[in-house]
This record gives sequence, structure tokens and C-alpha cells, in this order.
Amino acid sequence: MTSLDIPELALVALVGISGSGKSTFAHRHFAATQVLSSDAFRAMVADDENDQSASAEAFDALHYIAGKRLRARRLTVVDATNLQPHARAALVKVAREHDVLPVAIVLDVPEPLCWERTQARPDRTFGRQVLGRMRRDLQRSVARLGREGFRKVHVLRDVDEIDAVEIRYEK
Ligand code: GTP
Ligand code: MG
Repeated sequence: MTSLDIPELALVALVGISGSGKSTFAHRHFAATQVLSSDAFRAMVADDENDQSASAEAFDALHYIAGKRLRARRLTVVDATNLQPHARAALVKVAREHDVLPVAIVLDVPEPLCWERTQARPDRTFGRQVLGRMRRDLQRSVARLGREGFRKVHVLRDVDEIDAVEIRYEK
């Protein structure tokens, strides 16, 4: 069992490439209403969770709801790749605006495994090189998270370790 300590009130950013298991992790450890997923917001604004052209509007809506939740002092989890500094900066900003601690949980799962999982999914049709690009973004990201303002950064590298995670809430 690996205990992940997070504050009772936090904005939790999941960080990981496609297929790393972010949505699975979110579903396992958090209530559905605590999880704001970029896919769900794309679907809400564009009827298609894969419509990347809807991303700007989807994230706008996601950040708005995140702000509403944080204002009500509710733990909020952002299920998106969060691989780009500007994507994470928006999350740190909304957390700070509401005096809430931003926390990052990084799923740094081996790329070949993510690719294997991705190929098995009918809802993911991008090519191998897209995953490679995400992987490079992830590697750059990990070193920066603390400096970007995330108050806790948990990096999970081992699939068995991810399987054995237990979230522990700090008062
Ligand atoms: P994107 O939404 O594309 O960014 O991917 P994601 O990071 O949300 O990955 P997701 O949780 O959807 O997992 C991708 C696939 O891997 C799914 O088919 C899951 O069932 C599988 N998967 C995720 N986590 C695990 C795990 O811990 N063990 C196993 N065996 N499969 C997993
Ligand atoms: Mg997902």
C-alpha cells in the first residue's frame, strides 16, 4: 500500500500521457462529482469528447466550474493530460484565487504500455508519434511542477505501485 497524502481541500491535477490511467485512477479514488474531466467538458460543449477544436471552450468551462467548487470548499480533481505549462498555470491560478492548495499526481507509466492500452480503445485514434510527443512533454513537466506552484507533487512510476495507492487526507 502506498499512501498519497493530499490536503482535505485541494485542487488535484492528474498529469499523464494518454493511456497512463488518469481516468481510471480518478474513478477509483474520487467521487464522480469531484472529477472534472476534459473529455466530459468537450462532450458538453461539442457533443464529442474527442473534438480537439473544442478544447479552448471546454477548458474555459472546466476552469469556471473548478472555481465554483473551490469557492464552496470542495475537493476538485482535474482529469486531463495537464502536460502543457499553460494548462497547469490555469489550474494553479484558479486554486490560488480561492486559497486552495494545488497538488499534482503524476502517472508516469511506461510509454509502450500506454500505447498498448490506447490501441485497444476504439475512442482513441491518434498515432504513435502523438504519444511520443506527450511523453517528452511529460518528462519536461515533472521537473517543473514544484516551481509552477504545485505544493505537493506525487510521481507514480510503477504500475503495481499505482494499483496499491491509497489516498490519505490531511487535515
Ligand atoms: P486519456 O483519457 O486518453 O488521456 O487516458 P487516461 O490516462 O485517462 O487512461 P485511462 O484511465 O482511460 O486508461 C486507459 C486504458 O488503460 C483503459 O482501457 C484502462 O482500462 C486501462 N488501465 C488504466 N489503468 C490501469 C491499471 O492500473 N491497470 C490495468 N490493467 N489497466 C489499466
Ligand atoms: Mg482519460
